[in-house]
Amino acid sequence: MPPGDLAAALAGLSIPTNENVLVGLGTADDAGVYRISADLALIQTVDFFTPIVDDPYDFGRIAAANALSDVYAMGGVPKTAMNLVAFPLASMDPQILRDILAGGISILEESGTVLLGGHSVEDDELKYGLSVTGFVHPDKILANQGLMPGDRLILTKPLGTGVMNTAVKAGLASDKQIVSITALMAALNRDAAAVMTRFPITACTDITGFGLLGHLAEMVVGTRVGVTIFSDRVPLISGALDFAGMGLVPGGAFRNRKFRESMVAMDADLNPALRDLLFDPQTSGGLLMGCPKKRSQELVDALGAQGIADAAVIGEVTDRRRGMITII
Ligand code: CO
Ligand code: CO
Repeated sequence: MPPGDLAAALAGLSIPTNENVLVGLGTADDAGVYRISADLALIQTVDFFTPIVDDPYDFGRIAAANALSDVYAMGGVPKTAMNLVAFPLASMDPQILRDILAGGISILEESGTVLLGGHSVEDDELKYGLSVTGFVHPDKILANQGLMPGDRLILTKPLGTGVMNTAVKAGLASDKQIVSITALMAALNRDAAAVMTRFPITACTDITGFGLLGHLAEMVVGTRVGVTIFSDRVPLISGALDFAGMGLVPGGAFRNRKFRESMVAMDADLNPALRDLLFDPQTSGGLLMGCPKKRSQELVDALGAQGIADAAVIGEVTDRRRGMITII
């Protein structure tokens, strides 16, 4: 749904809650967190969508990596999952569904998550995803707000899956590009999350449908910090800038920009293709985390040592221009 619409639909409704809700609907966080005891809390999240790649098995892998990501973004470890399926039984070969589910299961196995069940409905349009439950220590929850002046912002995956998928649909992406973006979208944020536990991370989110700047806006809106993004240091998928320059930009990027442009200041001479990539909706994107400056290079090196070679410092947190994102 376009950003803001679900929040608008919920506005004014009284949401059931109690003192064990540690992270609820109020903060636009990646997932909800519920305390079970002094040293254990549940993380719950759910995500599903229509196919974004042609291969059913790959679609299953990507949907599962995407659904698991919100648990990692909160600093947790996924434990159990349930399938969510909408399938056009009358018009589609059931083998396609089997392949999608097999792809999802392969990623659950990789992440050490068990599949407990699921729910399916017949629908004109195929959709697949998962609800995921994870564990976290109540004192170790990473929320999307909490950035401190002086922090550096680190992003773990390059941007541009929305633009690249648009190029794939237009028949313009090479086989090599398709293979590499599929691997990127199916890559778990597990290893990045494991590295985070060794650093004094102040805030974290994963980059999905609202794009880098949409999710960053949620990290700073209403806070006492501002952020500066070093646009030339943001990792981009190879080829994405060219495709964006050709106008292969998904509609979601424009909706994301319209929704948050009042919070973003950028140079008039910023390359419009780069601007579009900063708002490009990502599928199963990377983690975006804040870390004190003095540990930030060590963090990037540790991520690199885990094979997360695209991880980079892309910005800094300031106590100026509060609630604003400045692109330089
Ligand atoms: Co998320
Ligand atoms: Co999500």
